[in-house]
Parts: sequence; structure tokens; C-alpha cells
Amino acid sequence: MKIQKPSLIVFEGIDGSGKTSVSKLLLSYLQDSGNEVQWFREPADSRWGRKIRELANLKESIPIEEELEYFIKDRQWNVKNNILPGLRQNKTVILDRYYFSTACYQGARGFSIEEIIERNTAFAPAPDITFIIDVDVDTALKRIKRGRDYEAKLFEKRDFLQKVRANYLELRAPGIHIIDGTPPLDEVFDRVRNKIDSF
Ligand code: TYD
Repeated sequence: MKIQKPSLIVFEGIDGSGKTSVSKLLLSYLQDSGNEVQWFREPADSRWGRKIRELANLKESIPIEEELEYFIKDRQWNVKNNILPGLRQNKTVILDRYYFSTACYQGARGFSIEEIIERNTAFAPAPDITFIIDVDVDTALKRIKRGRDYEAKLFEKRDFLQKVRANYLELRAPGIHIIDGTPPLDEVFDRVRNKIDSF
């Protein structure tokens, strides 16, 4: 299927939802159909993004205000260096996490979801389509434990993820599709592909 105009396609969901795998299947599908597509993830590869990953691996926490600033600075870098250049070159850009992650995760830490979204839309282009890959927290935690042999990381605590999931399910913005991430990966991808094909 040939995409007609450069589009920004975003994948969101709690840790363990499978969004990274689904987003990469979409990347291959669109590339195989002759589209120019780029895939980026957030946290990105800026110095703030690297710092966030480092802290999460060390299971260290920083004040939540500082955490929020890091995510936003990292995104500013990603918009400027990856997302806008890709769209300007008429490419389709797929993102594994974007500002809805900040809204739902840092929102679960007590910040206002509306304010986070406002701060981000001031500099970040709005997605054309956003897939929220939704699974319940127990399923997500089982998948995380299967894949990694260390204890749940900073962001992966049960109660916290429950709040994050509730925030995702309450998000209201144009172009949001909630996709059940519980079935096998190829079925989840089929549902995403159907939406893209009709988009
Ligand atoms: P994740 O997509 O899980 O990265 P990876 O699996 O490649 O290490 O993202 C890392 C964590 O960062 C994840 O728990 C969600 C969290 N996060 C936020 O809290 N706010 C944000 O704005 C972003 C982009 C991520």
C-alpha cells in the first residue's frame, strides 16, 4: 500500500504491550510496498535520552520535575534532528513512543496531562495516526519478565503501570486507535494494517 503524503504514525502503550514489535512490522510492511519510511524511538539518542536510559538501568530515580524536563528536552532534540527532517523529505515517520508517553507516564506521577500535551504540541508536530497497543498490566508484566531476567525496572511497577494504562485509555485526541495487544503479534499487526490501509 502506497502512502500518499508524508505521515507521522505513532505507537504507544505500557511497557510489555508489544508496541515496538508491531511498529517494526509496520516499518517492514510499508518499506516493502515501496514507501520511504523512517523509524525512531523515544527516549531518543540525545544526551537527555541516554541519561534517562542510564538512570532506568541503574534503577535510580531523579526528582520528577527533572525527569519531565529530560523527556521534553529529548523530544525537542528528536523533533529537530529526526522527525521534522524526515517529514520534510516526504518520508513517513514511525515513532515508538511520543508525547502521549510523557502525558500518560509523567501524568501518572502527578503532572497535569493537559499541560504536558500543551507544552509538547508547542514544538512537536501532531501525529496523523496513533495506535495505543493495549494489554492489561498482568499480561504486560509477564511478558517483561519472560524477556528480561532482572527485577522490574523503575518504570515497570504494577500500580504505576495501572495508572499509566488508565491514562492511555482516557486519552482523547484526533486519530487515536486503541488496539487490543493481547492476541498473537500477527493478529495485532493485521488490525494495525487494516487501519493504515483505510487511512
Ligand atoms: P521504552 O519504550 O520501554 O524503552 P526500551 O524498552 O527501549 O528501553 O521506554 C523507556 C521507559 O521510559 C518506559 O518505561 C516509558 C518511559 N517514558 C516516560 O516515562 N515518558 C516519556 O515521555 C517516554 C518517551 C518514555
